[in-house]
Amino acid sequence: MATLVSVNVGLPKDVAWQGRTVHTGVWKAPVDGPVLLRRLNLDGDGQGDLAGHGGEQRAVLVYQLDSYRHWREFLGRDDLAPGHFGENFTVDGLPDDEVCVGDRFRVGGAVVEVTQPRVTCYRVGLRLGEPRIPALLVAHHRPGFYLRVIAEGEVRAGDEIVHVADGPQRVTIAEIDALLYLPGHDRSTAARALRIDALSPGWKASLRALLDQPEHAGNPGLAAVAAPPAWPGFRPLVVTAVEPETADVVSLRLAAPDGIPLPVPAAGQFLTLRLGPGLVRSYSLSGSPGGPAYRISVKHEPGGAGSGYLRDQVRAGTTLDVAAPRGTFTLDRSDRPVLLVSAGIGATPLLAMLHDLADHPTGRDVWWLHGARDGAGHAFAAEVRALRPGRRVICFSHPRPQDRPDIDYDLADRLDAGVLSGLDLPPSAVAYVCGPAGFMQDVTAALATAGVTEIHREDFTTVAAVTPGVRPAAAAPPRSRPGPGPTITFARSGVTAGWTDTDGTVLNLAETCRVPVRWSCRTGVCHTCETGLLSGAVESVPEPLDPPAEGTVLICCARPRSDLVLDL
Ligand SMILES: Cc1cc2nc3c(=O)[nH]c(=O)nc-3n(C[C@H](O)[C@H](O)[C@H](O)COP(=O)(O)OP(=O)(O)OC[C@H]3O[C@@H](n4cnc5c(N)ncnc54)[C@H](O)[C@@H]3O)c2cc1C
Ligand code: FES
Repeated sequence: MATLVSVNVGLPKDVAWQGRTVHTGVWKAPVDGPVLLRRLNLDGDGQGDLAGHGGEQRAVLVYQLDSYRHWREFLGRDDLAPGHFGENFTVDGLPDDEVCVGDRFRVGGAVVEVTQPRVTCYRVGLRLGEPRIPALLVAHHRPGFYLRVIAEGEVRAGDEIVHVADGPQRVTIAEIDALLYLPGHDRSTAARALRIDALSPGWKASLRALLDQPEHAGNPGLAAVAAPPAWPGFRPLVVTAVEPETADVVSLRLAAPDGIPLPVPAAGQFLTLRLGPGLVRSYSLSGSPGGPAYRISVKHEPGGAGSGYLRDQVRAGTTLDVAAPRGTFTLDRSDRPVLLVSAGIGATPLLAMLHDLADHPTGRDVWWLHGARDGAGHAFAAEVRALRPGRRVICFSHPRPQDRPDIDYDLADRLDAGVLSGLDLPPSAVAYVCGPAGFMQDVTAALATAGVTEIHREDFTTVAAVTPGVRPAAAAPPRSRPGPGPTITFARSGVTAGWTDTDGTVLNLAETCRVPVRWSCRTGVCHTCETGLLSGAVESVPEPLDPPAEGTVLICCARPRSDLVLDL
């Protein structure tokens, strides 16, 4: 019989960490006497970051005395006491390699059900003063697990934990944790786990992604994975044609100097061009993925270094340094309706998808929804018309007198939530959205309101930062920094930095340069920091538990072995 040894609660508080402030509920302390366990929390407990912790699926975190004994010995620590691993229930019994997802227990007056393993996150390392711990919990098969509350009731230290029902399929916590985070990803276990109703929706989505993705290296359960890049680093391609689209958009066609056909990209991918020292810019492929040459379409930004160079210096015959097509914003192969929603130059990756859909007709219901200022700024109008999407809605925010309603445009309006709500969009659709940040935010919310659940977005700027629990600091632009070691170019941010050994990891260097970054565990487990490596080589310290996709790196455990160009 297992026993509840300690009930631990704590409300979120601000904690200083590496010069920043983290809002976290990982500090838990034992409570004497009975505590009411409710659907979302124990009384007196809370989480600092509900995106990563807490909620109905993760109401109670459980950790075992036996794991405490293990870590005391492994880490040589004699200070570890109940609550130190951020858990609400410290228990005697219920080992991770015996407890199964869906098992139900009665504890005191409450009934609970096992939903998933612990979320791997740096905050347990922060609590223990041991940054390696998120990776160690997984590598040692001792993550602990979360409970959902089936029946609310009082619990107290000393309560017996009575097993009242077996979870179906008998997949243990240790097994499912290893299935997602460690190499191997046994597909039959993933399929079995997906049949467990009690498994949390987040884990189901990860396991489904593992099953759906063709087998490339990388971990599609944790980060979207593309096919390996068709060539390493940069190679010369020749501009074969320069074609104006509008007054400020020009298309360039690129081919191999020897005329050998280029590898076929996935519709929606982008190229990265090295235009000069520290001047690296990315452009979505806008033409048919099977076409004889690559095509990019560049909008000239006033004062823009990259777009200015491409407009002023590049002619047919110019050779450019180009990295292989990359990106995971790519057309799915389902038969569901597809919504291609763009504004301005954001049309480019969606135009490649429209070409692909026209080149390989499958009977999919294809919607082309596009916003431009007016007819003068409306690129690709004739091309899109010729590709005959099933439904085409063009919005001009400021039509000119000569722009013809129902011919040049359909609505004199911005393409926004109001317009989308009147279109009777199919909720079963897969949506692809690209345009300015405000547009994407508005459109994504409107699509979700219309019931569309699968929405993919391509950002033409820096990545949207993921820094769980860190209090936002005053906004400041990215900045370059000299250093004695290899040069690291952060392409999206337009920043170049010299490496110094005290940086420790590329993630730390990016943070020093105020480059927007994404991370969660900071020790090579969660793949949140997976980033396209456009050129160069890294060494991993520590080695990630499961290697990232080919052509990418986990920047939280990467150090440069040469100059690097990163899609960050
Ligand atoms: C995946 C991806 C796909 C993309 N696809 C396309 C595409 O298909 N077509 C396309 O046209 N673009 C695309 N982009 C954007 C493209 O990479 C460039 O960001 C864009 O061309 C602008 O670069 P630039 O060098 O011309 O401008 P930058 O020199 O980077 O400047 C951008 C703007 O900021 C202003 N600016 C620069 N520095 C400062 C400063 N210090 N203070 C104030 N303002 C400043 C400039 O005047 C300019 O208006 C894509 C980007 C990504 C990441
Ligand atoms: S932040 Fe988790 S793998 Fe890098």
